[in-house]
Formats: sequence, C-alpha cells, structure tokens
Amino acid sequence: MDTIKQALLNKLEKRTARIGVVGIGYVGLPLAVVFAQAGFDVVGIDPDAEKVACINQGESYILDVESADVKALVAAGKLTASTDYGALKDVDAVSICVPTPLRKTGDPDLSFIASASESLAPFLHPGMVVVLESSTYPGTTREMVLPALESVSGMTVCEDFFLAFSPERVDPGREDWTTINTPKVLGGITSDCGEIAAAWYEKALDTVVPVSTCEVAEMAKLLENTFRMINIGLVNELAIMCDRLDVDVWEVIDAAATKPFGFMKFTPGPGLGGHCIPIDPLYLSWKLRSLNYNARFIELASEINTNMPRYALGKIQDALNLHRKPLNGSRVLVLGVAYKPDIDDLRESPALDIIHLLQEKGADVVYHDPFIPQLNHDNLALVSVTDLLPEVRKADCVAIITNHSDYDYPTILASAQLVVDTRNALGQAGKVSPKVVRL
Ligand SMILES: NC(=O)c1ccc[n+]([C@@H]2O[C@H](COP(=O)([O-])OP(=O)(O)OC[C@H]3O[C@@H](n4cnc5c(N)ncnc54)[C@H](O)[C@@H]3O)[C@@H](O)[C@H]2O)c1
Repeated sequence: MDTIKQALLNKLEKRTARIGVVGIGYVGLPLAVVFAQAGFDVVGIDPDAEKVACINQGESYILDVESADVKALVAAGKLTASTDYGALKDVDAVSICVPTPLRKTGDPDLSFIASASESLAPFLHPGMVVVLESSTYPGTTREMVLPALESVSGMTVCEDFFLAFSPERVDPGREDWTTINTPKVLGGITSDCGEIAAAWYEKALDTVVPVSTCEVAEMAKLLENTFRMINIGLVNELAIMCDRLDVDVWEVIDAAATKPFGFMKFTPGPGLGGHCIPIDPLYLSWKLRSLNYNARFIELASEINTNMPRYALGKIQDALNLHRKPLNGSRVLVLGVAYKPDIDDLRESPALDIIHLLQEKGADVVYHDPFIPQLNHDNLALVSVTDLLPEVRKADCVAIITNHSDYDYPTILASAQLVVDTRNALGQAGKVSPKVVRL
C-alpha cells in the first residue's frame, strides 16, 4: 500500500496526475476548471452530450465560469469532456459531482450516485483516489459508493485505491467566495484516504479543512444547509407573525441585525429554492427516520417554508381585493423566476409554485426574468415578456418574486397599478406607497 500511496502522492505533487470530474454541472464544471488551472490534465464526464460538446468547443454554460477560461484550457489541452466513462481508465483522481435531488415522494434520490459509482467501478485501478462531492446523508460514501467500487473491481479501499468525501459549498453568482477560496472540508474512509485526497485538493484550492472521517464531512455539509433552512423558516414565521401584529418585519430584522454579536441576519421570502437548502436537510431527516428518530426542527422549518408560496399567493389575492379585483381573470406579472437574484437557476424556485397556484385560481400569468428567457419546467411553458414597462403598466398586479439587482425598481413602482413585494426590493418606497403590499 505504501508504494501505491507514495506513487500517487508523487504524481499529485508533480501535477502529472490526470483528473476526472464526473458530472460537469454547476459544481463539477467550476471544479474541473480550477483543477485544470492548477496544472492538471482534466477530463469531465457527463451523459449530457450538449454540455460535453460545449466544453470541447471551449464554451461555458455556467454563469460563474467564463467561456474565455474554458477556451484557453481546451486550447492548451488541459481540459476535455466526454460522455464515455472509458475516458477515466488512465485517470488517477476522480471527483463525483452528480445531482442528489428528492423523489416525488420527498425521499432522497440516490440513483445518480449509484449509477456514477457503478459506471466508474470498471475503470477503477490501483493507485486511484475518488472523492464524492454530492451533498448527501452521513454514511453514503461508506455504505453505498465503497461497496459499489469494491464489488465490481475486486479491489480494497486503502490497499488498492482511496476514497473520501468533500462537500461542495459553491454559492452560484457569488464573486467574493469562489470554488478556489472557499475552505473545503474533506474526510476519508481511512486517514490515508483523507491524507491523499487532501494532498490532491490542496494543489488547486486555497484551504482544505481535513476532518477525521467522511461521515463528519457529510454531516458538516448538512449542518450548514440545515442551519440556513431552519433560520429562513424562523424569519418566514416571523414575517407571518409580524403581519398579524401589524409590525414591519423588514425593519425588525434590520434593527436586530445591528447587534454586533450573537445574531445573524436572514430574510423572509416567497419560499426556498435551489438545489441545496430545500433538499439537503430532508436527506438528513430521511436518514434519521430510518433510525427511528424524528428530526423535529427540520420538519417544522420545512412545513413553514413549503407553505410560503401559498402565503405569497394570499398576499397577491389580498392586494387585488383592495382594488376590488378577483384573482380569477386578473393579469399578474411575476417579476423574477430564478430561485435567487442575478442567477439563471430555476431549480426548486418558489416562482414555479406561485405561477402554478396563480394559474389554478384563473389568473392570467406572465413573467419577466432577464436571466431566464424561457420557462419550460414543471409542466409550464412560458416565455419571458420582452418589453417590461408596458407589461408592468398592463398588469393588474406585479408580483416581485426574485429581486434581481438590474431591475429599475423606482420606475417599476411608478409605472405599476399594484405591486406585491415579497423581497422588500422596493425598500422604504414600498413601505410608504399605497399601491404596494409587502410580505
Ligand atoms: N448548485 C449548487 O449551488 C450546489 C452547491 C453545493 C453543493 N451542490 C451539490 O452538488 C451536487 C451536484 O449539483 P449541481 O448543482 O452541480 O447539479 P447539476 O445538475 O448542475 O450537475 C450535475 C451533472 O451531473 C450529470 N450527471 C447525471 N448523472 C450522471 C452520471 N451518472 N454520470 C456522470 N454525470 C452525470 C448531469 O448531466 C449534470 O450535468 C448535488 O449533490 C448538489 O446538492 C450543489
């Protein structure tokens, strides 16, 4: 084992190790680019032939990754992509970055991790290190990926190959904290596994935070996302309570946030979105249910957060009521459908639920989003309106669901008949305007 381990460490040290990234989406592509920029030869594996073709033509399809960077790396022969797992046969180090969504029943869908592990197994060879990056419940790397790799290859972890878990923390659209400078927690199946995986990641990332096991690393990711989800649930309930008390929730939160210690600011909204916060905590509660434990904080916050699109619908209905208009037949312009500002990601966006709910009530729904020109998702087929201000004037109600920063909010407010602001995008102007209803 020592020879295998040392040979791999030498290759990583000299950056002659070849890297594979399995799943080149929001997480995998930035990671592949960072490894290639650190001097490694990188191949991305993805069943999506369009993504593979884009990379090989030097084009990025992720906002946070510049096409110029991809082009330069492809031209230098440092980055390629393939739909064929066979491209991994000469690779020394593999990161797995495949999706971990929920099934329709709300249970974890681990089929992508299972299929990626099974597809990788025939190409596993002595002296290879594998790191799972997908967010998942504690135990997945040891209970699922490890047997899948060992059973097909006949090899043994830590004797022949090495396995670790390192959760991704990327926050799409963010420029101050990126794949390179966000500290990366990493834990191995054994301490040797952790040591080798850390030696690899340290070549490309500023800070690796080693932990004793992959379970600690898996749980750390779920703690981070559960912390956010529960705190968002808390401020969402605060918004509902403040509404009953006729107190301005936004002012309350800003006031509390002046405390220099012991408080962290979270803001309410029309519901949770994205691939992480609404989903990852449910991986944890699902796992705990299998151990006869009910994760009560998660269940409660999830219940509050899941109900927020319906709460936002109620606000739109109440606002129209002030103008003596029923929702049925009213034209509602949904402003912003991405799950958060200034990105093009629709996954789990509360806007989708809100549009469905509005349509069920008979509203004539149109939307505008500069980042999402078409919405073919979740049985919806809509095209973003192009000429914004005439649409704002025409709408019986403008519902601000995602507060993209490029919107000219004063002009939107001046032009609209009625606005429901679920994000406090209008700030003080929204508070004092008689035509604005706020969350
Ligand atoms: N997007 C984020 O902001 C974010 C942040 C932190 C963690 N994560 C986690 O990272 C993981 C990946 O998320 P993402 O946002 O990159 O998803 P994504 O959907 O953008 O990318 C996943 C990619 O994996 C590919 N894929 C699917 N099955 C595959 C297979 N069997 N083999 C190879 N490739 C396969 C898909 O085609 C897709 O291109 C998830 O577990 C997610 O929870 C995401």
